Amino acid sequence: MTSRLIPVPPFVLTVFGATGDLSRRKLIPALFHRDADGQIPEEALIIGVSRRAMTDAEFRAFAHQALTDHIPAAELKEPELERFLGRLSYVAADADAEPGWSELATRVANAGDMIPVYYLATAPHLFGPICERLGKYGLAEKGRVVIEKPIGKDLSSAVALNEQVGRIFPEERVYRIDHYLGKETVQNLMALRFANALFEPLWNNAHIDHVQITVAEALGVEERAGYYDTAGAMRDMVQNHMLQLLCLVAMEPPASLDADAVRDEKLKVLRALKPIADHNMAQLTVRGQYRAGASAGGAVPGYLEELGSTRSETETFVAVKAELENWRWAGVPFYLRTGKRLASRVSEIVIGFRHVPHSVFGDAVGAIEPNRLVIRLQPDEGVKLWLMIKDPGPGGIRLTHVPLDMSFAKAFKVRNPDAYERLILDVVRGNQTLFMRRDEVEAAWKWVDPILQAWRGAKEPPRPYTAGTWGPSASIALIERDGRTWLEDGA
Ligand code: BG6
Repeated sequence: MTSRLIPVPPFVLTVFGATGDLSRRKLIPALFHRDADGQIPEEALIIGVSRRAMTDAEFRAFAHQALTDHIPAAELKEPELERFLGRLSYVAADADAEPGWSELATRVANAGDMIPVYYLATAPHLFGPICERLGKYGLAEKGRVVIEKPIGKDLSSAVALNEQVGRIFPEERVYRIDHYLGKETVQNLMALRFANALFEPLWNNAHIDHVQITVAEALGVEERAGYYDTAGAMRDMVQNHMLQLLCLVAMEPPASLDADAVRDEKLKVLRALKPIADHNMAQLTVRGQYRAGASAGGAVPGYLEELGSTRSETETFVAVKAELENWRWAGVPFYLRTGKRLASRVSEIVIGFRHVPHSVFGDAVGAIEPNRLVIRLQPDEGVKLWLMIKDPGPGGIRLTHVPLDMSFAKAFKVRNPDAYERLILDVVRGNQTLFMRRDEVEAAWKWVDPILQAWRGAKEPPRPYTAGTWGPSASIALIERDGRTWLEDGA
């Protein structure tokens, strides 16, 4: 075991939806990695649950395949693989029927004092029924429950869902995952802000001109089109991941990293968001939908073709000019944009500082560009600080804009763990700092709901954009109207 790893107490993790996509792509590989690093205690058990009839051996074979598909062969070594697969067992059970539940209850009871964790990797309409049965079979008493977005499709459905879960599990044992909060660089945002004395004095409207948050994906919706068409980019990305990023950039320094200290500060940010509704929606938001185009050098279909439909008003792109109504941030726009099938996969936060108040250099030296801090979330995680320096050489002063550039992969030669590796073990540790509290989720919907309503009311279809571009031209106009420009790829 590496000494830097914090061990976790023994646990019995039940994964509902164990044969589904999330379990296969993320949960099983994440658990394997933590186990292979020696962080999972010897006794810990993992129980897969889904409706499909399967033996323990068949579930182990399923998990083995998931690991082979998602982890490089060189990392899948014995004896780690055998140890991991040996922890797995399987129970077939349906959220809406009794068979299987007593068996599950017996297996969890046999685990004795180990911490029971229930991961609901299922469709959200099953969260309520599963929680009810967990309650009925006496499984909820000490257990922790993990749920994922979408938590509702608007405020009222989110409240209803939170209430269903809350009837069985008290809030301190509900873990709402936003996997962006588990990303390495997102954590680094907190380190950057609160472990350096340098930035915090400048972190306000006196020194910051604007903030940009881009989460761009090159992929389309592909086989998720069915779900995606009921959600769209606003519900899928902005209501959760993008607003969480905004919170981490904009929150006041919490007194500690204690879960409620952090979540109280994030909540204040969400509550300070200036409302966007019918009257200002057209000036402050842009929605788009991709048409056929090119991505990674090949032709790709449009959204409607992927959906297999001739008509859909679902947005695959959103840009929003958000503002915070508080003393620290009044007058500083937060430009958010996210979309599928954009020019490249890049997620980054750009903190644009103000111009120098006066240039002592005269006109001949080239423009003085404002400083920028770019926090790159993915790919190639890192931080760039753009500064003006003198171009080297004789012949007087010429100025040039250069980055202090730190790529984490080059600086630290370690594997970048997936967000789920950290988050699952945080549940076992009982650390809720990186999970969303009920009031945060509901506050985010309070801001998003009127935007969705205004879009519906306007009856305008999303603006088309060609796959492989940076979205509809209106999103460029959204920022350029303010004399600013979107910055791409760490520029
Ligand atoms: C998910 C969304 O929450 O996040 C997906 O539902 C999106 O549509 C994904 O593709 C992006 O996550 P990541 O970690 O690949 O940036």
